[in-house]
Amino acid sequence: MPLVPTDPRWLGIALADLDAVHADHLHCERKAAQSALSLIRSYPEHADLVAAMARLAHDETKHVIQVSQLMARREQPAAFDFGDDYAAALRDHIRKPEPLRLLDRLLVFAVIEGRSAERLGLLAGALDDPKSRELYASLASAEVRHRDVFLSLARGVAADSWRERAAELAAIEATILANRSITPRIH
Ligand SMILES: [Fe+2]
Ligand SMILES: [Fe+2]
Repeated sequence: MPLVPTDPRWLGIALADLDAVHADHLHCERKAAQSALSLIRSYPEHADLVAAMARLAHDETKHVIQVSQLMARREQPAAFDFGDDYAAALRDHIRKPEPLRLLDRLLVFAVIEGRSAERLGLLAGALDDPKSRELYASLASAEVRHRDVFLSLARGVAADSWRERAAELAAIEATILANRSITPRIH
C-alpha cells in the first residue's frame, strides 16, 4: 500500500516544536490502542482479528508508556488531545454495509499506521538526542508491522478486492493531506 511521501516541509515544522509533536504523539498511540480494541468490540466472532487486535493494542499501550517517559525525561508539557480531523476525514470514507465496513476499517487503520511509520521514521532520522532517535526508530518499525497486520486481515476479508480498495483509500489520503495545513503533529 504505497502512500504519497510526506510534504518535505513537515519535518522542519515538527522539529521546530517537538513538545507539540510528542504531546500529540502520546494521544496517537492511545487512540491506536482504542481503535484496535474497538474492532474487537465490533467483530468478536473473528478469532484471528481478536487475537491480532489484542496484541496490537498491547503494543500501542506500550508505546503510550514509552512516549510518556520520553516527555517526562524532556520535562515537557503534556496536552489534551488536539482532536483528530485527519483520521475523521479518512473514516468518512468507510462504507456502511458489511463486510465492506470491516474491510474499510482495516484499510483505514493500515493507512494511518503506514503514515505514522513514515513520519516516525523521518523523526528517527533527524532528532539530535540519541535516545529519542532509537525510540522513534523502534516505533516506526512497529507501525510498519501493524500496517501489515491490518493488510493481512483485509486480505482475509476480501481476497479479490482489498488491493483495489487499498489503492483508493491511499489516493483519498493523499487528497486529505494536500488539503490540510502542515502542523507540528504526527498527522
Ligand atoms: Fe504505536
Ligand atoms: Fe501502530
